[in-house]
Amino acid sequence: MDIRLPFVKFSRDELPVGTPVVGMVGGGQLARMTQETAIALGVQLRVLAEGPTVSAAQAVADAPVGDYKDPETVRRFAAECDVVTFDHEHVPTDLLRALEAENVKVFPGPDALVHAQDKAVMRSRLDSFDAPSPAHQVVESAAEVADFAKRVGGFPIILKTTRGGYDGKGVWFIDGPDDADIAVAFGSGVPILAEEKVDFVRELSAIVARSPHGQAVAYPIVESVQRDGICVEVTAPAPGLAPEKAAQAQQTALRIAGELGVVGILAVEMFEARDGRLLVNELAMRPHNTGHWSIDGAVTSQFENHLRAVLDLPLGSPAARAPYTVMVNVLGGDVEDMHRGLLHCLARDPGLKVHFYGKSVKAGRKVGHVTAYGSSLEETQERARHAAAYLTGTIDE
Ligand SMILES: Nc1ncnc2c1ncn2[C@@H]1O[C@H](COP(=O)(O)OP(=O)(O)O)[C@@H](O)[C@H]1O
Ligand SMILES: [Mg+2]
Repeated sequence: MDIRLPFVKFSRDELPVGTPVVGMVGGGQLARMTQETAIALGVQLRVLAEGPTVSAAQAVADAPVGDYKDPETVRRFAAECDVVTFDHEHVPTDLLRALEAENVKVFPGPDALVHAQDKAVMRSRLDSFDAPSPAHQVVESAAEVADFAKRVGGFPIILKTTRGGYDGKGVWFIDGPDDADIAVAFGSGVPILAEEKVDFVRELSAIVARSPHGQAVAYPIVESVQRDGICVEVTAPAPGLAPEKAAQAQQTALRIAGELGVVGILAVEMFEARDGRLLVNELAMRPHNTGHWSIDGAVTSQFENHLRAVLDLPLGSPAARAPYTVMVNVLGGDVEDMHRGLLHCLARDPGLKVHFYGKSVKAGRKVGHVTAYGSSLEETQERARHAAAYLTGTIDE
């Protein structure tokens, strides 16, 4: 009897002896970019995809389609892998706990991952070991929102859904007690977290990789620019960041990874507050948009270190290859054909690196990114910004 699952393309005995099989739940661009490095390392990447044509399914031969919320589907998928990891954090925590109980290697494990899934759980855990957060409180009514605002010196404040938010969806800036978005937030059906609105100079991101045996590496601290809640540009390293502050940010991220027992990449989004505080915004436990620069700009990319970590292999150097690396997201605009601008961009700048995600264009959707590196910050920024703007059709020359 052929016991092979109908959705698995290669059985283990069809792969070279010793080939590790890494299962990634979710077929977005993160899984797609992981495949580049999986190929190089000879790792068999298997993706549990949302559909047959999603971003990673175009690039990964073994990408069975299934519902990541269905316990039986995830169990069958996991049975064909040496370790299970993620392209997103939406797999229900209980389902992952059940897998762990069946001795499936899940990295990051559910006890760590829950802190990237639930912002209220994350805040209370960070408080328990004095990692610096903005003032915060779970709120259940408009009256509690008003009380919270009083406690932090008045409006504006921030409300966010504790679960399920991304790219700024699920974050509301509240200007006063009568702000209509208070009702919108409470109408979301998810517990709501109130936070002080941090007056920040800029947003930073600290990315670390940590392996099961406890080795960890920290990438240079980067500056990220968000527009309408979406990351648009990342500069590595964060220009002009005081070395003590950069070290503090790296230490904070390493501490969080250790305390939470994260395996794989941990991205810690931070605020550099105007009053000098360095505050944790949120956590992601997977390769992160603010780490895409590392594909072309670091000795070992975040995708490679994620794979190495979940396989408990020695981690690679996170050092930058150039004084500055700038990554600009290619966000869907008016132009539908992303390849139309390639001729111009590649001819203009032989040092430019373009990454497309195999996604069709929708307004504001992340369809790719471009990276430039060099020794002049201004010139590197100009090159990356120009290419992204040209590809999306914002400029034409
Ligand atoms: N407490 C805060 N103070 C000021 N700005 C905030 C605060 N929380 C979030 N923001 C802004 O909203 C963006 C999205 O919030 P975040 O919690 O990271 O949600 P998401 O899960 O959508 O990324 C942040 O990158 C930042 O620009
Ligand atoms: Mg965020």
